[in-house]
Amino acid sequence: MAGLKYMSGFGNEFASEDPRCPGALPEGQNNPQVCPYGLYAEQLSGSAFTCPRGSNKRSWFYRILPSVCHEPFEPADQGHLTHRWDEVGPDPNQLRWKPIEIPKASQKKVDFVAGLHTLCGAGDIRSNSGIAIHIFTCNSSMEDKCFYNSDGDFLIVPQQGKLLIYTEFGKMLVEPKEICVIQRGMRFRVDVFQETRGYILEVYGVHFELPDLGPIGANGLANPRDFLVPVAWYEDRQAPGGYTVLNKYQGRLFAAKQASSPFNVVAWHGNYTPYKYDLDLFMVINSVAFDHADPSIFTVLTAKSLRPGVAVADFVIFPPRWGVADHTFRPPYYHRNCMSEFMGLIHGSYEAKEEGFLPGGCSLHSAMTPHGPDSDCFDRATEARLEPERVADGTMAFMFESSLNMAVTRWGLTAGSGLDASYSKCWESLRSHFTPDARDAAAPRK
Ligand SMILES: [Fe+2]
Repeated sequence: MAGLKYMSGFGNEFASEDPRCPGALPEGQNNPQVCPYGLYAEQLSGSAFTCPRGSNKRSWFYRILPSVCHEPFEPADQGHLTHRWDEVGPDPNQLRWKPIEIPKASQKKVDFVAGLHTLCGAGDIRSNSGIAIHIFTCNSSMEDKCFYNSDGDFLIVPQQGKLLIYTEFGKMLVEPKEICVIQRGMRFRVDVFQETRGYILEVYGVHFELPDLGPIGANGLANPRDFLVPVAWYEDRQAPGGYTVLNKYQGRLFAAKQASSPFNVVAWHGNYTPYKYDLDLFMVINSVAFDHADPSIFTVLTAKSLRPGVAVADFVIFPPRWGVADHTFRPPYYHRNCMSEFMGLIHGSYEAKEEGFLPGGCSLHSAMTPHGPDSDCFDRATEARLEPERVADGTMAFMFESSLNMAVTRWGLTAGSGLDASYSKCWESLRSHFTPDARDAAAPRK
């Protein structure tokens, strides 16, 4: 979209001024007695003041009015947004959902916040520990409304339709096959242009970071330079009916009125920012001899726990790539995992499940619940001639993988969520090919 500007880098100390007000950033200090252009200084802290430098996150805003200029918050309609993980009993089954239907604008206008549906999650918001996975479906822009999340960070994965996201830091256009992260406390509003759908991974109390690369070296996977941060943009606008500030606090939605637009930041600097990333820029690493590397090689961003190497949640993608491994069953292996795996499909068809796992749909394989390719995929892969082949062309699947044991919400288990009761049937036709008297027998596959 014309006119949108970005700076590149991940977690850098950025500085930005709206070009209409050159010199809006104070020189040499954060909080001068009088700010340029009569602006107010305000700090947004994304980490404890005393965090080590490497994880210390904050930004300074220079804005027309401080964000405290609002009326008191009142409870607002919650819709299908929840943080309660005990609504229904636990369910260890493999679960899959068809694409959740997007309401038609001609029938009911639904914006980004009203269209949030919590599917599953775990942990405790009050102790800043846990995650939630939401699906959003919407057909209308947020008009004179903004939202901020006091509970955690949103990693947003649009699946259908573009999002034009206004933030206090500037504007970002985020299209399917791009992702963005709006961190805790950042006010934003979302404009959409059609019936729109996507996925959100929310993490409480931690922030996403790039995974360490270990023996891979200094380059590879998602490179820091490919992350984009918006540049400062402000509007000095009174909303005729007042502006509504929506806040998710301890899992509940609240609304407060204020007279003017919250997107009134003329300049800012800091390292606590929203950002976006184009998944096509991911540098894929894979096996070039035999066997599989684990899917952790496809990690874009990680939210670390305090246990070394264990993520609260990872964001992992399965992008187009070459498959070249010798004498190897190439689709994902059958497995059971101590982590919980939520998968979604942005577009195309996923190699291990060509039927039933649809763009806009999703699946959940909980801790130690077995899963793997369906029987058609197994048959094809065991009979295939192993030549170099393109894998996942025209496809982008992803996984939110978490060390937490997630509960599914009541909404997630209703028909309205698109729950597919027939999912487990995809493994029903797997047959034994065991031939105890003939080690190298070509087993019948069908
Ligand atoms: Fe898996």
